[in-house]
Amino acid sequence: MAALQTAFMYLGVAVVAYYVSLVVTLVYDVLLRPGARLDKFGAGQGAWAVVTGCTDGLGREAALELARKKFNMLLISRSADKLEALAAEVRQAGVEARVVVVDFAAVDEETWARVRRELDAVRVGVLMNNVGVSYDHPMHVEEVDAAAVDAMVDLNVRAMVRMTQLVLGQMKERRSGLIVNSGSFAALVPSPFLSIYSGTKGFVRYFSQSLAAEAAPHGVVVEHLQTYFVCSRMSKTRRPTFLIPLPKPYIRTVFAKIGVEGGAAEPYTSIPYLSHALMAFVSERLVPRQLAISYNHNLLAGLRKRALKKKQQQQAEAAKA
Ligand SMILES: NC(=O)c1ccc[n+]([C@@H]2O[C@H](COP(=O)([O-])OP(=O)(O)OC[C@H]3O[C@@H](n4cnc5c(N)ncnc54)[C@H](OP(=O)(O)O)[C@@H]3O)[C@@H](O)[C@H]2O)c1
Repeated sequence: MAALQTAFMYLGVAVVAYYVSLVVTLVYDVLLRPGARLDKFGAGQGAWAVVTGCTDGLGREAALELARKKFNMLLISRSADKLEALAAEVRQAGVEARVVVVDFAAVDEETWARVRRELDAVRVGVLMNNVGVSYDHPMHVEEVDAAAVDAMVDLNVRAMVRMTQLVLGQMKERRSGLIVNSGSFAALVPSPFLSIYSGTKGFVRYFSQSLAAEAAPHGVVVEHLQTYFVCSRMSKTRRPTFLIPLPKPYIRTVFAKIGVEGGAAEPYTSIPYLSHALMAFVSERLVPRQLAISYNHNLLAGLRKRALKKKQQQQAEAAKA
């Protein structure tokens, strides 16, 4: 009996020590550990950074941050006027900027050939596959209309794969390059009522991790960036909180922590922002998966209810007017 008690005690100590070591690593990662230096990918040496979906939210901040880090910028998004305005802002950082107008929800092979020509004309040091779309509000799968399904697959999956294919050749040839793929916590814990979005981000997770291992021997770094909520048009959140930062501090952390896992429990993945790292730690390491899914189910069911109520109110007001 005494021997059993001692065994349990050692087991308990080992478990506690394991979790303490995880917390210490996390805190070290997010607070102290520096990321890869961006000059490794050509910052300040004439290299270009490419960001898709860059006229708003995270993409816009990424474009401005990479310009501050002295990359020339190739800006790819769908709204010509917003792109030109952003290019003018980017140039104020003393770098070059070019724009490429692409609607990733309607790209034909001719458009891809145009994008290829633009990419082949410059030395691409960084590609951020950022463009993405989610639901208008949480829905049952059968409620999502065909255009929204296609857009999620086109933006979240197809654009990422095709853009990656277009830059990998030159990056491998130079044995230098960074590809950052915008993932989501919707692929950390499955997200009921956002099932299609969650599924596309699940693709991003495994595509990025597989590619990262494939590309590493060729000198190309691939990072799966897993993001919890950040204030943006997509998240429909404007006011920052501890858990939901503004795009600027979030993106600054992202590019200061390239290659740093932070809260991520998987290889080639980064959750660099402190509050997101803590969320990931709790979701992945402490809470059983089924419980995490149930939590998401309740949370998103609540958001769905509120969104539907708001829509009904708007319809009633419109009918009165
Ligand atoms: N915000 C979050 O809480 C959050 C959380 C997890 C993951 N993420 C991921 O982070 C990425 C960026 O999200 P965000 O919140 O910054 O999004 P956002 O604020 O909605 O911005 C999306 C950007 O993509 C562009 N875009 C939209 N549809 C396009 C199309 N068909 N073709 C070309 N460009 C298009 C938009 O251009 P226009 O200005 O012309 O519309 C805008 O510049 C996404 O991949 C998202 O899944 C975000």
